Amino acid sequence: MPYATAFIKVRDVVYLRYYDVALSLQEVLRFYPVVYHAYRCADNDDILPLSQPITTRFGKAIRELPVPKGTRIVTSIAAYNRIKDLWGEDAHVFNPERWLNGAAKEKKATSVGVYSNLMTFLGGARTCIGWRFAEVEIQVFLTDIVGKFEFAPTDKSGRVRLEASGLTTPTVGGEFEKGVQLPLRVSVAPRTEKVY
Ligand code: HEM
Repeated sequence: MPYATAFIKVRDVVYLRYYDVALSLQEVLRFYPVVYHAYRCADNDDILPLSQPITTRFGKAIRELPVPKGTRIVTSIAAYNRIKDLWGEDAHVFNPERWLNGAAKEKKATSVGVYSNLMTFLGGARTCIGWRFAEVEIQVFLTDIVGKFEFAPTDKSGRVRLEASGLTTPTVGGEFEKGVQLPLRVSVAPRTEKVY
């Protein structure tokens, strides 16, 4: 992407979603949710309707789940973002194209996310209030730096592993004790006269 010198408005950034970088961002948010679990505790006895019946260990198929007051619940944002019924058979594949061809945008009956079926920012009454701001901020940051720098993998990049440490955290296999690492080779990009 060329070096951008012009000031851009939020409206312009929204249009950036048609660029590869923005499409990849949607897929990164799906595939690598920063917050991978959400924790809840039932204030009252309740009943959770299920989108699909589950079979208990006694062989009974149930469509609702009783939730007694005080029950602690861990919802997996990361797992929801890879449900095949919502994302298709390739849910476990990193594929930005799904955002371009409309497959990812098709809302499903059980969708709980802020848009599409994306649960990265949770959903419902306690949805992340900063989700739009975060997306615009990341897009502005990316479109600015990708024009100025070039990024390449290093010999350690193949060993990057994601650790569940409250937030999704990159580390390097075999160097866990060094903490957060995401090795990349960064160099200054050649300048171009073209202004977008
Ligand atoms: C990629 C960036 C971000 C991600 C993935 C993210 C994700 C989330 C998630 C999953 C929750 C729900 C947590 C829960 O209830 O258990 C949440 C809540 C929240 N987020 Fe974000 N967030 C992001 C950026 C931001 C930003 C930039 C702001 C503020 C400018 C923000 C402000 C908030 C607030 C205030 C809540 C609490 C909302 C409530 O409980 O009513 N977030 N976020």
